[in-house]
Amino acid sequence: MKRCAYGAAAAVMLAACGEKVAAPTAGDAPKTTTAELTISCGSVGQDFEICKKLTDEWSAKTGNTVKLFTAPNSTTDILALFRQQFGAQSSEMDVVMVDVVWPGVIKEHLLDLAPYTKGIEKTHFPAIIANNTVDGKLVAMPWFTDAGLLYYRKDLLEKYGQKAPDTWEEMTATAQKIQDGERQAGNKEMQGYVFQGKSYEGLSCNALEWVASYKGGSVIEADGSISIDNPQAAKALDMAAHWVGTIAPKSVLSFGEEEARGVFQNGNAVFMRNWPYAWSLSQKDDSKVKDKVGIAALPKGGADGQSAATLGGWQLAVSKYSKHTDAAVDLVLYLTSKEVQKQRAIVGSYNPTIPELYKDADVLKAAPFFGSLYQVFTSAVARPASVTGEKYNEVSSAFWNATYTTLSGQAKGADSVKKLGQELTHIRRGDQW
Ligand code: GLC
Repeated sequence: MKRCAYGAAAAVMLAACGEKVAAPTAGDAPKTTTAELTISCGSVGQDFEICKKLTDEWSAKTGNTVKLFTAPNSTTDILALFRQQFGAQSSEMDVVMVDVVWPGVIKEHLLDLAPYTKGIEKTHFPAIIANNTVDGKLVAMPWFTDAGLLYYRKDLLEKYGQKAPDTWEEMTATAQKIQDGERQAGNKEMQGYVFQGKSYEGLSCNALEWVASYKGGSVIEADGSISIDNPQAAKALDMAAHWVGTIAPKSVLSFGEEEARGVFQNGNAVFMRNWPYAWSLSQKDDSKVKDKVGIAALPKGGADGQSAATLGGWQLAVSKYSKHTDAAVDLVLYLTSKEVQKQRAIVGSYNPTIPELYKDADVLKAAPFFGSLYQVFTSAVARPASVTGEKYNEVSSAFWNATYTTLSGQAKGADSVKKLGQELTHIRRGDQW
């Protein structure tokens, strides 16, 4: 298969791509037949807007057109939708965004990109390329990486003589103190801590951070063993349950990323757990917390614990059922290119997947924490997706449900992790995942 060079003039490119070029008719300007692609590229924060701008640029260069599919916010809902589309072998979607935990789940519906990339994947983080390579096939190109971060209000910490917390215990105490102080001073809306507490994949990400920070493992270890039923994991979940209704509003149990960001960006939270995308939005002119935000690594689980960030991130892939494979691959290679990743890092604080860009002065100016917290991004804890393969979503949904049950006060941490351990054994069925 030939691949279309996105920099090339439209007609040349179309010929190279094997698309039909209509013969000019007398008196008419030459007409070309171009591909009409559909891409699903997200709707959280600035996802849609930035994707639109970049796909428009690619369209102008190539003569192809791109329609944006409006995906739901929650990764769990996006997966359900893609599964329906793939199940029907629908050609409606050409290019799809792929969560870092999905390659093993949807691999059979994605095109192997290796024959088209000319080795460009070697310029990306090797761990992400390994993650995206399933059964020897490169099923997706890395687009941006993610890691959980602690956002805090610099101004409020200063006002109350506090520092960014090292441990969750410190975070809890500081959050309570500032919440109480601000409420007394008249802001009844003030919350100590907001995070992603609704029943979906984002809760698995938060919970893995709590558990790993108390050295309670990563639910299922790389060798396939189920490790979640342990006292440290139980302790971590109990700690988080204690936040609900004290430093976090009860409504945190229905928060995804955007709900947490809404509260924080409106000036109504001291701390927030979120992904890097929230940074650029918090610094916009319409943000109530512009110039008041600091970012740190997430707190440790007690003095003996460790700071743990869940590894997130998104890839772009071509659906096997696409009728415009060459153009779709070209769009993927364009959007994941160094130039585009640089722009997206600057405008949207999306973490590049190309290590070189972490030394780029323009990128570091726009998102200084890409440099200061580089280690957080390179040593983030992976969810047990590679080891559980196709069963990952079932595994994760058992984990977020067990966590939700604890957060909502229906069970204690110890009972939840015990039951979860049993459920996971059942999902595994035998020795192999
Ligand atoms: C972010 C992460 C993704 C994760 C999701 C959970 O989008 O990049 O990996 O699954 O959040 O809500």
